Amino acid sequence: MSTLLSQETLNALAEAAAEAKRHSYSPYSHFKVGAAVLTDDGKIYTGTNIENASYGLTVCAERNAIFKAVGDGYRKLAALAVCTDPVPGDGLGSPCGACRQVMTEFMEQDAPLLVVSVKADGQRSIYAKQLKDFMPYPFNKL
Ligand code: THU
Repeated sequence: MSTLLSQETLNALAEAAAEAKRHSYSPYSHFKVGAAVLTDDGKIYTGTNIENASYGLTVCAERNAIFKAVGDGYRKLAALAVCTDPVPGDGLGSPCGACRQVMTEFMEQDAPLLVVSVKADGQRSIYAKQLKDFMPYPFNKL
């Protein structure tokens, strides 16, 4: 699958992830996350983190976005953006290991992976990588 996506498309994906973060259900961690995936035919699906009083049942924003797209029949996702509140340190988030494994199932290693953070005043920071930067030695389909 081609991963030559326009800057406009990637910006739209990052913006969709930032928008999805507004729907976060995170009364326990108070850490809001939004994610957006791009399908191979150019559609965007979003997801947010959904927590539970039984903490271990929480599902991350990335997996919720991926599962929405896959549940609609998509099997190849061209890019993913994740947007978090600022985190201590450099302010940027990073997808958890479980989400990286799920991304590996439906995305090529060279698929763009954008990490965005939004401060309270709306200021955005963004870094663009590829899935392989986060998941260099993937366990793949048998
Ligand atoms: N979270 C995500 O949604 N994505 C990640 O990649 C890391 C963590 C959520 C899960 C939980 O609701 C909150 O962030 C704190 O861990």
